[in-house]
Amino acid sequence: MKGLILSGGKGTRLYPLTFTSAKQLIPVANKPVLFRVIEAIRDAGINDIGIVVGDTAEEIKNAVGRGGRWDVNITYIPQESPLGLAHAVKISRDFLGDDRFVMFLGDNVIEGGISPLIAQFADSDYTAQIVLTRVAHPEQYGVAVLGNDNEIVNLIEKPKDPPSNLALVGIYMFDHHVFEAVEKITPSWRGELEITDAIQWLVDHQYNVFPYVHRGWWIDTGRPGDMLEANSLVLEELTPHNDGYVDRDSQVDGRVTIEKGAEIINSVIRGPAIIGEQTRIVNSYVGPFTSIYHHVLVENSEIENSMVLGHSKISDIPHRIEGSLIGRRVVLTRSPVKPKAYKLTLGDYSQVGVL
Ligand code: DAU
Repeated sequence: MKGLILSGGKGTRLYPLTFTSAKQLIPVANKPVLFRVIEAIRDAGINDIGIVVGDTAEEIKNAVGRGGRWDVNITYIPQESPLGLAHAVKISRDFLGDDRFVMFLGDNVIEGGISPLIAQFADSDYTAQIVLTRVAHPEQYGVAVLGNDNEIVNLIEKPKDPPSNLALVGIYMFDHHVFEAVEKITPSWRGELEITDAIQWLVDHQYNVFPYVHRGWWIDTGRPGDMLEANSLVLEELTPHNDGYVDRDSQVDGRVTIEKGAEIINSVIRGPAIIGEQTRIVNSYVGPFTSIYHHVLVENSEIENSMVLGHSKISDIPHRIEGSLIGRRVVLTRSPVKPKAYKLTLGDYSQVGVL
């Protein structure tokens, strides 16, 4: 089998974090979502992986390279614009050939990996296998209606009035018949060739499409709130280790990972949390469900249930920072300059909640 990862698109819902970087590269528990996807596919025994890339191709290529780090071969497949998931399949035909393949959306995070799913599909005669899970807001996803024998009756992309709460997870398995389906469908109201329509086409033409219902957690990291939730869930799964330095005046409780070169000085860290490489936490509190990425400084401040990306600096903040997503090279500090006022330099689409 082969793997196909979709990492094109623009990530507009994660603005401003994705103005300057690909959403699939935002680290969740200090590891880019895309790297987690590559590892999930590799762990399922697949070494030949294609990545569909768009505007952020260069950044993705620089981060992922040729795949040697994971012992896989990566082939990049350029998509001229995000014309839909089925369009991405269409342009990947040369890479995929007649092999069965798993397609994984590069911004999805799922509990427990995909090895059992792949094994099930590899041993079956299904034309396709889809993954479904129950969600609170099905209108934001592709939605499936199953019949009495668990067969797929209908699939609809982002219905205004959802007929069920079973959402399509961004993991799909196909054989070569999907190429016929993607040729036959036409663009949806949002102008995209929808993979949901291609699967419906397979169902309508009596191909065997198996719906697997996933019971663990699954997150489509499309919005900032989803990012924080994914971060919390992945932090809970991590096996903690300490490759950094914790001084005698600090206290580290619960499942805390401290990466190479990180320093914890006179601070309290309560897990689950991760402190990135070369990051310094000084006279501060880092609470549960927090990921602080590499080369960050947190001093004289308190933060919890948050994510801080690389090279940022947080110092002397008088109130605890909570539920926050702080980008790269952000400087958040208390200013001694009078008059006493907020002094902000915020990018477009920033969101700040002040006391
Ligand atoms: O996450 C699950 C949902 O993913 C499914 O429930 C929906 O049925 C499916 O259509 C899809 O919906 P989204 O609207 O969330 O997809 P999004 O546009 O966010 O794209 C998902 C990934 O695929 C993302 O990493 C970008 C990439 N992509 C997207 C498009 C439209 C491409 O590489 N090329 C594309 O043309």
